[in-house]
Amino acid sequence: MTCPSCRQELPSTARFCSSCGTPCAGPAAVAAPEPPPEDERKPVTVLFCDLVGSTALSGVLDPETLRTVTLRYFEAMSAQIVARGGTPEKFIGDAVMAVFGVPVVREDDARRALAAALGMRRALDALNEELEASLGIRLTTRVGVNTGQVVAGSDATARQALVSGEVVNIAARLEQNAGPGEILIGPQTLLAAGPTVTAEATGPLQLKGKRESVEAYRLLALGADDPELLRRFDAPFVGRTTELDSLDIALAKTVRGDRSGLLGVTGEAGIGKTRLVREWLTRRTDALVYGAGRCRTYGDHGTLAPLADAVRPLLPHPDDVPAGPRDPAAEDAMALLSGGLLRDGTPNASFEDMCAALTVVLKRAALARPVVLVLDDWHAAAPLLVRTVDRLTGGAGPGRVLVICAGRPEGRTARGRTARGRTARGGRHRVCGEEAGAPPAHRSPPRGGGPARRRSGTARRPSRPGRRPAPGPLRGQSALPGTAPGR
Ligand SMILES: Nc1ncnc2c1ncn2[C@@H]1O[C@H](COP(=O)(O)OP(=O)(O)OP(=O)(O)O)[C@@H](O)[C@H]1O
Ligand SMILES: [Mg+2]
Repeated sequence: MTCPSCRQELPSTARFCSSCGTPCAGPAAVAAPEPPPEDERKPVTVLFCDLVGSTALSGVLDPETLRTVTLRYFEAMSAQIVARGGTPEKFIGDAVMAVFGVPVVREDDARRALAAALGMRRALDALNEELEASLGIRLTTRVGVNTGQVVAGSDATARQALVSGEVVNIAARLEQNAGPGEILIGPQTLLAAGPTVTAEATGPLQLKGKRESVEAYRLLALGADDPELLRRFDAPFVGRTTELDSLDIALAKTVRGDRSGLLGVTGEAGIGKTRLVREWLTRRTDALVYGAGRCRTYGDHGTLAPLADAVRPLLPHPDDVPAGPRDPAAEDAMALLSGGLLRDGTPNASFEDMCAALTVVLKRAALARPVVLVLDDWHAAAPLLVRTVDRLTGGAGPGRVLVICAGRPEGRTARGRTARGRTARGGRHRVCGEEAGAPPAHRSPPRGGGPARRRSGTARRPSRPGRRPAPGPLRGQSALPGTAPGR
């Protein structure tokens, strides 16, 4: 080591230069290298997909065409994996390995993996149409899916695999045992994916490298991911009288004021938000019309799909003969929305035009009975959806329309990053602040309010996904306090 000041040669342990006294960066001063990111055990679902008979293909296609076909296949398969929140981890020969659960474990990883496997089969059908027409060939795959604990590295840039363990080996073996076009899944995947999976047992399989046989199932179909199907909604509903009353009050105020209202139902996972809102809708079925949509963090749907799902049931059937005189404004609005938002949740017009058209359509829907739009899993709402709801429930929104946003108080958005809380009007999104467009009685108590403010208030503006509740007495309080009965 040399002195940084006088260049005097010094022993490597020196802390000061023996010639000029300048402090030296001895071993203690040298920054310790960053510890390697720790590996962790976590539950994941692993998917393997391989081409059947790819060697035969190399006999009929020249190398350049074969490469193009293989790349198209990888691209189509990866797109399905990524659309469901999976990570394509490796391409081995003609096989794709994907993991659901890294970097973030999600409660529905197994379902996502199965949805991806079915999506991959459909995507391959579409690709085959093209390949058959242009090259006269068809590709066939087989898929294996398995769920369980793995050791997962946290460094996505590392050269070694992100996950390793028995679960991965079994997923690969299941794939090798699947017939052409088949998806074989392990018992833990079947269990984790929930009751809407349709699969048939293959009988115990003797997998290479495993002494004991493994139970496997052939995936046939995957039902809707409606919480009512995934969880038990058939047990008798108990309690929640205060919250049911809050919903009644919110609707009554919206109707009385002939304004649009916005209501947040916020609470931890599984506390009963969805059940509460559905129970209320069932009880009030004669007093209102409603539509519902769920925000999802994955899937190939448009940003505004939850809103489109909620609005669609309120529209007249295209075959219905309209009662009364023609309404050109409503017809124009419908024409505008049908081209994008109502088709697949993709906005197709300017934001202003779309909101204006939605206002016209909702106003009309609310003529006979008040309208309730339920947007569930609001914590996963896309920023554009938040902005649209904000506008619809703002001053110029349709009258007699109540929007209920039910979600967890999570600080993560659909894309796993913290969202910046800006509303369409540029102000900070208020959690317990006054509601724009809502009648005064619909507003939260003033800042620093007394005991009333400490009560769990459902009638407040839903928190923007990704934002922590604003400071104040309601901070961190849930609209549904306590543990849900029946859990
Ligand atoms: N008041 C209640 N009476 C009986 N069962 C209830 C009640 N509230 C919730 N449950 C039951 O609790 C389970 C979870 O409820 P629910 O799916 O509504 O929770 P959630 O808050 O919407 O959860 P998540 O945040 O995951 O969407 C369901 O099986 C539901 O039937
Ligand atoms: Mg729910």
